[in-house]
Parts: sequence; C-alpha cells; structure tokens
Amino acid sequence: MSAEASSRYTSVAIALHWAMAALLVFMIWLGWNMDENEVRYQLHKSIGITLMFLAFARLAWRFANPPPPLPEGMPAYEKTASHLVHIAFYVLMIGIPLGGWFMVSVSPFQVSTVLFGQVSWPHLPFTEGLIGETLYEFVANVHGKGAWVIIGLLALHVAGAVKHEFGAEDGVLKRMLPGLFGKPNPPALPARGALFAFGGSLLLFAAIAAVPLLASGSPKPVSSLSGPAALSGNWDVDYSQSEISFSGQHEGKPFTGVFGNWTADILFDPDALGEARVRAVVDTRSAKTGTKLYDDSLKGKEWFNVSQFPEASVDLSDFKAVGSGYEATATLTLKDVAVSVPLTFTLEISGDTASLDATAAFSRKALNLGQSSDPGASWVADAVTVHVTGKAQRQP
Ligand code: HEM
Ligand code: HEM
Repeated sequence: MSAEASSRYTSVAIALHWAMAALLVFMIWLGWNMDENEVRYQLHKSIGITLMFLAFARLAWRFANPPPPLPEGMPAYEKTASHLVHIAFYVLMIGIPLGGWFMVSVSPFQVSTVLFGQVSWPHLPFTEGLIGETLYEFVANVHGKGAWVIIGLLALHVAGAVKHEFGAEDGVLKRMLPGLFGKPNPPALPARGALFAFGGSLLLFAAIAAVPLLASGSPKPVSSLSGPAALSGNWDVDYSQSEISFSGQHEGKPFTGVFGNWTADILFDPDALGEARVRAVVDTRSAKTGTKLYDDSLKGKEWFNVSQFPEASVDLSDFKAVGSGYEATATLTLKDVAVSVPLTFTLEISGDTASLDATAAFSRKALNLGQSSDPGASWVADAVTVHVTGKAQRQP
C-alpha cells in the first residue's frame, strides 16, 4: 500500500452510506404503512426522489474517489461477492425510486407530486400514452418486491461486514465507520470531485424540477370573453374588490381557493329581471388554494385539465326576487360539460355602486372532476361551494 493510500472510505462516502441506509429502511417501513394517507404518500415520494438524487451523486462521488482496496487476505470469491452486492445496491437505489416515479406517472389516479410541499415534480416524460391500471399495478408490484430484494441483500451485506470485521482479515467495518468511532488509522484521503458529484446531480435535478414551471408559463389574462357573443352589459365589475372563491373538503379537512383571473359581463336591472343576464369567464389556470399540491392537482387532466381547457364559463339566467335577495340559475361549463344549479344572492345597490354576495353548490362528480382518481369521494368530498363577492359600478 502506498504511503498516501487509505484503508478508509472518504467522510462523504461514509456520511452518504449511513444516511441513505437509514432513509432506505425508513422508506420501506413508510411504503408499507402509507394507510391511504396523502401526506404519507407525498413524504414517501419526496424522500424517494431525494434518495434517487443522492444515489446519482454518490455514484459520481465513487468514480472520483475510488473505494479503498479490500484486505489482501480476503478470498477472491468473497471480494467478487462483495462487489456484486454493492453493484446490486446501486441498481436498486436508482431503480426503485425511478420505478416509483414511473408508477405515479402511469397511475390512473394521476396524483401530482410536490417534493416536501415546495417543489412541483413532473411526471416522467413520454408516459402519457401508458397511463392505465394494469401497468400501474405491475410496476407497483415490482416496486414493492424491490424492497424485499434490498432486505435480502442487506442481510448478506451485514453478514459480510461483520464476518470480515471479526474474522481473519480484520477492519472491513472500520472502513465505513465515521472517524469518531476510534482514531482513524490511517486517516482518510482528502476527497475530490465534490462539485462534479453534487453540483452535476443538483443541476440535473433542478432542470427536471423546472419542467412544470416552464410548462405552465405565465397565465395570459382572459382579455375578452370567448364563446357566445358577449352581453352588452350595464355594469362594470371592480375586480380589485371582487372575488370568486371555491371551497370543499379533502380528507375531511376544509380547503378554499380563489380564481385569480376572470372577467364578467353583467346586464341587470332589478326592475327588469326577465332580461337580466350575467356571463363570467374564468381562467382555470389561475386557481390558487395556498397549497401547492392542490394547485398542481387542479391543473391536471382529471380536474380542470388546463392545457386543454384553460377557460370555464358561468352563465346566470332565470332571475327571481326571493325574500330580500334573488335567485338565478347558474350554468357552469367546464371541460365541455355544462351543469345548472340554483344560485342565491343578495345585491345592494346604492347610487351607482352594487355589492353582490352569491353562493352556489356544485357536485364535482356531475362536473366530471376527479372521476377516475376518486369516484367514491373518499378523499375529495363531492360538494363544492362557489362563493362570489364583488362590487360593480353602473355604466354611464
Ligand atoms: C428508495 C426509494 C424507495 C423505496 C425503498 C420505496 C419502497 C416502497 C415500498 C416498500 C412500498 C410498499 C409496497 C407494497 O405495499 O408492496 C412502496 C409503495 C409505493 N411507493 Fe415507493 N419506494 C421508494 C421510492 C418511491 C418513489 C420515488 C415514488 C414516487 C415518486 C414511490 C411511490 C410509491 C407509491 C405510489 C407506492 C404505493 C404503491 C401502491 O399503490 O401499492 N416510491 N414503496
Ligand atoms: C440498505 C442499507 C445499506 C445499503 C444500501 C448499503 C450499501 C453499501 C454500498 C453501495 C457500499 C459500497 C460503498 C459505496 O459505494 O458507498 C457499502 C459498503 C459498506 N457497507 Fe453498506 N449498505 C447498507 C447498510 C449497511 C449496514 C447496516 C452495515 C453495517 C454492518 C453496512 C456496512 C458496510 C461496510 C462495512 C461497507 C464497506 C465494505 C467494503 O469496503 O467493501 N452497510 N454499503
């Protein structure tokens, strides 16, 4: 052994080895205990993608910092076995999370992935045509079996490490133990290639994470009403003081959101309700709930399918005075499906200013929202309430 040769792994390799070993064991436990809980699924996917990143970085690190040679007295077949186990670990450390990513990409549920609640993570490219139950179940099965292969290899790996620690050729375990477990002898070599290993992997993963940002672009304002001819209204909406919000329940917890971008045309005179009409066009891409996972999910095919249907429209007709307020029929057209429900509202007109407060309840199932991922409304309740508050000025 040359003077500078070390019989120890670098501190970075050691840190990665133990951190990843602990996370892998935790991930297997988590995979078995997700209990249909969305928070756990998201955590599983977040740590899994992180582990895939770390596996790439670790592999690159290993190329830049080759492992110390195995003890000379170790039989050749044991050296080969040890190498094969290490290679198999790398295949699994990349293959299992990659398989998980493929699984969620082809899943009929099409649930979005948001890493640690912060970073929108895209589905694997070119998988859109493969979405389906059979492939999803097959990949889920292989993914779960992969965990058992890790467990089997771990048994061999630990047995080997322990045998060679206490057997004839001592010191194999010490190669991988942090220096704080006894004085490292000889000390580890200075490490090389950190930028190559971590910088390179980080760039690759940042580029993937940027895909959803680039794909969504900045929403263009809905400048003019599309669809049937716009009404020649007699009110101008004050958008800064108006809001269209929606609320519902996810896993028993309430959520609310607003549409940031919409326009409305209003033709309304309390003395001529028979002629009253309201038409609003809503930019479906502008739905914001304050939770990234919901925002990303809403854009998906299953929900608003914004790439194909960036607009939804609401038409109000059949106005009636009821008590101190009004009732109308609200027809919501979303993804080419039109559903009519009653809308109740109050309207106060003082001078040329009108203040509106309106509520309507929709069934998301009737609107074909989330019908493949949750037709039984086990996660997302069927009832969605739309609430509109606003101010408008009478046109001169
Ligand atoms: C090293 C990383 C990972 C390990 C060790 C791991 C392990 C597991 C295990 C043991 C299960 C339970 C399988 C069963 O019930 O038979 C599971 C399920 C699952 N994993 Fe992973 N996983 C990893 C990464 C990922 C990633 C990156 C994703 C997605 C981006 C993912 C998505 C899933 C999903 C969706 C399920 C539920 C499958 C089902 O419907 O049964 N996993 N995982
Ligand atoms: C799932 C958990 C584990 C995985 C995936 C894993 C993976 C690996 C890999 C890939 C290497 C080669 C070095 C490298 O490229 O970093 C390695 C080396 C090593 N591991 Fe693990 N390991 C795990 C758990 C353990 C445990 C629990 C022990 C404790 C007995 C252990 C002891 C060692 C030792 C002593 C070495 C150095 C062996 C040598 O130089 O040939 N590992 N491990």
